Amino acid sequence: MPIEHASVVLDRLVKVFAGSGRDVVAVNDVTLSIQPGELVTLLGPSGCGKTTALRMVAGFEMPTSGKVFIGGRDVTNTPPNLRNTAMVFQSYALFPHMTVRENIGYGLRFRNIAKSDAGEKVERIMELVGLSGLGDRSPNQLSGGQQQRVALARALVVEPRVLLFDEPLSNLDAKLREQMRGEIRRIQKSLSITAVYVTHDQNEAMSISDRVVVMRNGQIEQVGTPEDIYAKPLTRFVADFVGKVNFIPVSIVESGQEETSVEIFGRQMTIPKVSYSSGETHLAVVRPEELRLMPPDNGFVHGEVTSRTYLGSVVEYDLALSDGLTLMAIEYNPKAKPPFEIGDVAGVYFDLDKLHLLK
Ligand SMILES: Nc1ncnc2c1ncn2[C@@H]1O[C@H](COP(=O)(O)OP(=O)(O)O)[C@@H](O)[C@H]1O
Ligand SMILES: [Mg+2]
Repeated sequence: MPIEHASVVLDRLVKVFAGSGRDVVAVNDVTLSIQPGELVTLLGPSGCGKTTALRMVAGFEMPTSGKVFIGGRDVTNTPPNLRNTAMVFQSYALFPHMTVRENIGYGLRFRNIAKSDAGEKVERIMELVGLSGLGDRSPNQLSGGQQQRVALARALVVEPRVLLFDEPLSNLDAKLREQMRGEIRRIQKSLSITAVYVTHDQNEAMSISDRVVVMRNGQIEQVGTPEDIYAKPLTRFVADFVGKVNFIPVSIVESGQEETSVEIFGRQMTIPKVSYSSGETHLAVVRPEELRLMPPDNGFVHGEVTSRTYLGSVVEYDLALSDGLTLMAIEYNPKAKPPFEIGDVAGVYFDLDKLHLLK
């Protein structure tokens, strides 16, 4: 299926909704460049402006200021039906009185496509999304996951240059959600179609995206690969939003040529050079899975286990340190070692090379 790969550029996009009383700045100066064939996810809490930004790409919402480019062309004033984008929503909005085949082919009716060609396209798309053999069913004879496949097929059949997803999996149960996100990614990659995906679910964002855009209050907080966003968050907000995290205060003692001497938990230690000045204190981001628990006399510091949650493949611990700090530790392969119990004192160790300091 020949789909023309298109870049998407948001250039200083602003959207203000005039409210009764005060205005809402839903999107506040968002600039973003998406490569042809790339899947970029807008991730952030409810109300941060994800849907509004996506709707401006589709043309359902007119920017207050700023521009949208698709394939290098300014489409800011182009109506939605001429932008060649397609959107998949959380609610499938299928026509209940039409069959699966008719639902998928619906968008082709308004295009100049011979009936036989249209029929062929529909069959091909049904195969691509895993609906072969279900063409004659009506939507109410399908499971939630199958209905979402129909919605996806309906978006794909018109061969859009950009595919837009607004929380498409929110109505599915956890297991199906994971399966479907894998399939969406597979299909998007196999067609090399540019996609903008909106979700508030960090796991979904991490697993599906080439790059993740973390949004907060209408603004971009950070753009990066899932690995970057997780391991090198720029802000406390990003660190917190994309997973469980410990924030550990680190005081800079002295910066040398290759190493920096710091104080952590009241102990002097050496870490790979960071470009902060002596006397400053920064928060280090340490993910719970990086903490290793050991007998109390080992490790950098010790703490009392205040909670222990067994989750099958992992055990989560909360530890209270004597200075009031709380740490969360995740241990994989819990059977490998005797567990710590609530009330036990455990030593805490982590790899100093991996310390990531926030500004
Ligand atoms: N049509 C609208 N009229 C007024 N306010 C709106 C409208 N659409 C969205 N908003 C407001 O804009 C902000 C961003 O909303 P939205 O883009 O839907 O966020 P998200 O998709 O991240 O949850 C919210 O404060 C929301 O209430
Ligand atoms: Mg939304």
